[in-house]
Amino acid sequence: MKIAILGYGTVGQGVARVLTENADIIEENAGEKIEVRRILDLREFPNDPFADKVTHDFGDILKDREIGIVVETMGGLEPAGSFTSRLLSSGRSVVTSNKELVASHGAEFLELAAANNANYMFEASVGGGIPIIRTLRDSLVADNITGIEGILNGTTNYMLTAMRDENTDYAAALKKAQELGYAERDPSADVEGWDCCRKIAILTSLVLGKQVDYRDVSTKGITGVETADFKYAAAFGADIKLLGVSKTNSRGTCAFVAPVMVSGKSIFCSVNDVYNAVLFKGNMLGNVTLCGKGAGMLPTASAVVSDVIDETRNYGKHVPVKWSREKAELLDLGTYKSRFFIRALGSADEEGLKARLIFGDIQFADPKDIYGEYGFLTPGMTVEDVAGRCQKLDGYISWMFYEG
Ligand code: HSE
Repeated sequence: MKIAILGYGTVGQGVARVLTENADIIEENAGEKIEVRRILDLREFPNDPFADKVTHDFGDILKDREIGIVVETMGGLEPAGSFTSRLLSSGRSVVTSNKELVASHGAEFLELAAANNANYMFEASVGGGIPIIRTLRDSLVADNITGIEGILNGTTNYMLTAMRDENTDYAAALKKAQELGYAERDPSADVEGWDCCRKIAILTSLVLGKQVDYRDVSTKGITGVETADFKYAAAFGADIKLLGVSKTNSRGTCAFVAPVMVSGKSIFCSVNDVYNAVLFKGNMLGNVTLCGKGAGMLPTASAVVSDVIDETRNYGKHVPVKWSREKAELLDLGTYKSRFFIRALGSADEEGLKARLIFGDIQFADPKDIYGEYGFLTPGMTVEDVAGRCQKLDGYISWMFYEG
């Protein structure tokens, strides 16, 4: 099997390295040798072992009929989208790590792949090296998946872990993440939750079999999480994680991204630093959790190469994927029911009495080093309901989802 790589950045170079270092096991698993025939990039890589494969002309790949599979590790919508479209139309299979493109055009490219007896594969687009997509498509097929929850962004999980363990604020955690190369100079996609939003949109699309528009997923990142929130979390024996959530019941599906205070019983409490985890709830199976490295050169490249191997085994045969272009209508977040963590100015003994009248049976925490404010957990209610009650609370500061 001869392949090409579009985009020779971190992940693209990782793909070449995995194919080289694990060549024997890959050949054994794929049933044939996998050879990198061309690499498309604007740059030259004179000292790279694949230097002679580099081209700057996409036409060199499109016209080369020896190439059967193309790995797209360019990122971004364009030109990756146009290249993908032309390759699939020409009957080539495309393997990608590009979550932005998959979230926006996944259904369209799957349709194009089907029409041309090819495949569009995107294991590496969610959770880096963790085999999430294949598990969902191949293993969890006897179940009705009613819930997905995940720590789907390594950068923000690293930052939240630093804020918790080193008692640093958001700005210091971001600086450290940037120094370590986890966060980009413009960290918006990670810290504002957009990266996580695209990933939960992809997973929800696969579960519903319809196109979830990621712009319909209510998204809040971690920029508003304060050191004080972690002090309350510690007092409740809890932690704070940025979760992508998608829940389906008889009324429909609700999906969102937000910082969530998770109780000490949650499996997510043990998922720290750049690790990701995703929990699927099946109506027969119960809960299944997958955890591992959700980002980074080799874990992501490993997932890309696993798709290349899978496609080599199935070459010439389209494998259907349950994800049509029909739009999935999501329920309004206001209807979502949860418990909540709320902060307000005053003290639990005085102003807190009024809070009890507004919210019902609430549970206070008394963290060290917090003065002039109090915090509590509410009983279950809808988002719309909690927002309305917060308006009646004197000195109201903030609310956050709480999951017991
Ligand atoms: N920026 C992403 C993260 C990369 O931190 O998880 C992997 O999608």
